[in-house]
Amino acid sequence: MERLDKLLASQGMLSRREVKELITKGRVTIDGTVEKHPERKVTGEEQIVVAGELLRVQRTLTLHKPQGVVSAARDARDKTVLELVPPEYRRKELFPAGRLDKDTTGLMILTDDGALAHEILAPKKHVPKRYRVTIDIPMTEEMVRRFAEGIELKDGRCRPAELTIESEDTGVVTLREGRYHQIKRMFGCCGAVVTGLHRLSMGALRLDDALLPGECRPLSEEEISLLRQQHLPE
Ligand code: URA
Repeated sequence: MERLDKLLASQGMLSRREVKELITKGRVTIDGTVEKHPERKVTGEEQIVVAGELLRVQRTLTLHKPQGVVSAARDARDKTVLELVPPEYRRKELFPAGRLDKDTTGLMILTDDGALAHEILAPKKHVPKRYRVTIDIPMTEEMVRRFAEGIELKDGRCRPAELTIESEDTGVVTLREGRYHQIKRMFGCCGAVVTGLHRLSMGALRLDDALLPGECRPLSEEEISLLRQQHLPE
């Protein structure tokens, strides 16, 4: 449940001030009844009419993906990320914005907003995705150089990627595209096997430390705008 004014403002069409004004002037109805209290708690499943127009509430969730769960919308064999969503946040149209491998953990975005998904995934938008990676051999400056140059994969040359070595076998990789098994294949070209992969951020949005693996929560309007940013989190 969240406040009516917060939910309306999170839809991106109206500012907080405009929302408050419409509510207090009696221009918002919930399931047919005028609601004049901006603090009224709603789920988003109600029929909400704002200034005569039925609102279709859009939802964007941040999820801490655990291992062993697939990021497809449906799967005959494995549990999917959508099955981790508690009933109060479920929507028929919710889908994962981008894929992570079954054994990859970390930040996933689930949304019913197709335009938002396009903005964060389209390679042209250059939204950075940052991962912590562990490999089976020591990381080398040669790998850093090859990542920066753009590694040649079977399906073409990768865009330059940033690799920062953190310890002997662990580093942080920043990609601005998302191909199938991309990081695993890039390290494969350097003779290494990825033994651990965790997404830390998308755009300027980090994975919320308070979310345990398997947990999710709705994003605020400010957090959704961080997702679209081309710069990395502070
Ligand atoms: N690169 C991979 O190889 N796997 C992922 O899950 C994400 C990026």
